[in-house]
Amino acid sequence: MKVLGINALFHDPAAALVVDGQTVAAAEEERFSRRKHGHRPVPFAAWELPELAAHWCLEHAGVDISEIDAVAYSYDPELARPADEMGLDDPWDHLRQTYAQRAPGFLASALPGLDPAAVQFVPHHVAHAASAGLASPHLDAADVLVLDGRGESASHLAGRYDAGQLEIFRTQELPHSLGLLYETVTEHLGFLRSSDEYKVMALASYGRPRFLDELRHAVYTTGDGGFHTDPFDWQSLVKRRRKDEEWTQDHADLAASVQHRLEEVLLELSGWLHERTCGTALTLAGGVALNCVANTRIFDESPYEDVWVQPAAGDSGTALGGALHVARAEGDITSPMSGADLGRGFGDTDIEAWLTTARIPYERPEDVADTVAECLAENGIVAWFQGRSEYGPRALGHRSLLAHPGHERNLERLNDVKGREQFRPVAPMVRAERAAAIFSRGPLPSPYMLFVHDVAKGWRDRIPAVVHVDGTARVQTVHTETEPLVARMLEGFERRTGLPVVINTSLNTAGRPMVDDPRDALECFGSAPVDLLAIGPFVVRRPEGTR
Ligand SMILES: [Fe+2]
Repeated sequence: MKVLGINALFHDPAAALVVDGQTVAAAEEERFSRRKHGHRPVPFAAWELPELAAHWCLEHAGVDISEIDAVAYSYDPELARPADEMGLDDPWDHLRQTYAQRAPGFLASALPGLDPAAVQFVPHHVAHAASAGLASPHLDAADVLVLDGRGESASHLAGRYDAGQLEIFRTQELPHSLGLLYETVTEHLGFLRSSDEYKVMALASYGRPRFLDELRHAVYTTGDGGFHTDPFDWQSLVKRRRKDEEWTQDHADLAASVQHRLEEVLLELSGWLHERTCGTALTLAGGVALNCVANTRIFDESPYEDVWVQPAAGDSGTALGGALHVARAEGDITSPMSGADLGRGFGDTDIEAWLTTARIPYERPEDVADTVAECLAENGIVAWFQGRSEYGPRALGHRSLLAHPGHERNLERLNDVKGREQFRPVAPMVRAERAAAIFSRGPLPSPYMLFVHDVAKGWRDRIPAVVHVDGTARVQTVHTETEPLVARMLEGFERRTGLPVVINTSLNTAGRPMVDDPRDALECFGSAPVDLLAIGPFVVRRPEGTR
């Protein structure tokens, strides 16, 4: 059967298409609308649907909307309760229920020809859980933990998939929420809540967790698989940072304290689940699962042998999870996702037409991977646009900015290209067969860049640009079988420099969504000091003298 998944209500609207249990397409609306995160996560915007992403999924698969058997909408308004009853200060929250109840009608008008009766509501955390348990390679059985800001009335789910069936052991009701706790401290530290949480994680590496005792009193597990997050006066610890103010050691210490406490609580929650199931594999989803520092501690210190995280762990992933859940419930056998490259791709002819229209000089080298390797070895910065775009927030070698990791200054250079804060790290991509010699502690292979790894002492000076202040790096392993072009580029770079590692960061500039189509790539190349654009088999060079 054909199931269209829709995430619309809170964060990161997205659509996904599952046909006969196979994931065919998945994409976030922001990549089409060019508005970061699609819309702000406020009740007034909750009616907006991922129309462009949904239309593209259908077009990509050549499926007419009338052929869709079910639409999975990743929120069930029947499970919601009034905000004040849930202890939330959100007087307009009821709009979310109203909009969700009317979603079948909204969807039918956005997708003409759709029967509103085909829309099924999937509980938000069940959709997250399916995006982990049903998309992971652990087909037979996998434990699952979901942690996010909030769903209908909860912020967590602990359960287990057995032969594709989910058993739920525990959920944590609001107002207790680790995701909302992290969002609140994000705002207190002067960043944008529901968006910049990863900046808090990066800032935490610069601090000491000296407020840990205070946090342990307010944030704790309850011994039954759940947890409490009591109201907390951040101002009593550290003065609120204004957006344009420099950060201080106090701010870094607060970030470190919250990060550390989050890790402790996640370890306790995963320990509780393991005690119940004695499982070997844990799968994770929900926005909290994008915290790669915490993920590594779970992998390293929990009893699980393997930890798998959905690359679109935030709400965008519920479009895929919702669709997989409905496909399973209707009797289809679902398959694990094959990779995160589930978005738009463009043929050589299409790309060449874009270049011709732009009247920009381009070449078609014999091997684009080798031309890029050469430019990187000469310390150029490369915009790399290849294959289908990534689902989820990480660039994984399809829409990436690449640079030489051996020059420390390249971190600053890339942060300048992107116009972002200097405390933000950039990540390494590494040939899978060379990873274990350089990186440890986090899981290997690590194809989705969702864990941090320790960098071996002997390598820290050789690849200083990708080593964070705490001696770690957020690694992506590259496998020849699944990413032959990227692997060839890495080989070419290693041949020239002796380094099997290249810096990989997302192809976008600050505040903008990742580049998705050739026009975005040309706009980004035209406005940022990048030396080479490698787009499909073609390259566009920054003219000599302007570099
Ligand atoms: Fe969520």
